[in-house]
Amino acid sequence: MRLFLTIYVLVIVATVSILGFRGSLTEKEPVEVFNDMDRQAKYKPQAENSFYANGQNDRLPPKLTVSRGNALEIKDVFSTEFTSSTSSEELVLSGKDANGEFSDYFPYPVDFELMQYGQESYNIFCMTCHGAAGDGNGVTKQYGILATSYHDDRLRDAPDGYIYDVITNGKGLMYGLKDRLSNEQRWAIVLYLRALQRSQSAPLESLSTTEKSELGL
Ligand code: HEC
Repeated sequence: MRLFLTIYVLVIVATVSILGFRGSLTEKEPVEVFNDMDRQAKYKPQAENSFYANGQNDRLPPKLTVSRGNALEIKDVFSTEFTSSTSSEELVLSGKDANGEFSDYFPYPVDFELMQYGQESYNIFCMTCHGAAGDGNGVTKQYGILATSYHDDRLRDAPDGYIYDVITNGKGLMYGLKDRLSNEQRWAIVLYLRALQRSQSAPLESLSTTEKSELGL
């Protein structure tokens, strides 16, 4: 009987101490037997740091790091001439002009290097589904992914900004790739996609006479 009473009292004390104080706030400092990671040596953003020559904690991200989302260009943010949202910046970020319409203006100087960057990025990020020629015959087709072919008039006539938006935010079953590709990389892919479209539908008149004779036309 005594044993029963002792256990009975212990159970009541345990129940009250575990369940009874749920939700009640305390102003007292917590008892830190093991202080886990409550206090740790760390570098806070925008703080001073004598280790680096410029005395700042903040470092530039390593080269070729891709910023998540529609981040501003890092080099602009760190520049003393930085001004916030200009209309051309908005176009680079969203592919839309001042009226909110998809723009056909390509915001980077077009050169061979940018085209190569686009090709390289396309082959890594798009080819698996859309195929090397952009005709929708990627290796994932046999698994039921029916990626759109770029070779129809609707997509040939679509403004560059629209293609950029599809890459950024996705469309229908296709997911957006803004967390994996920088703004410039997405525009470079738009450029290469245009080259793919032309490769499948170049008009005969655009060829020179030597090119025509080389092709036996
Ligand atoms: C995982 C497979 C996959 C990848 C990777 C992918 N796409 Fe797609 N894409 C699709 C599918 C599926 C559709 C059709 C979406 C729909 O209409 O539901 C599509 C549609 C499109 C369209 C047509 C949009 C329209 O208006 O019909 C474009 C343009 C496009 N993708 C470009 C790209 C580019 C550029 C890349 C690489 C940056 C890319 N896609 C990567 C699967 C993919």
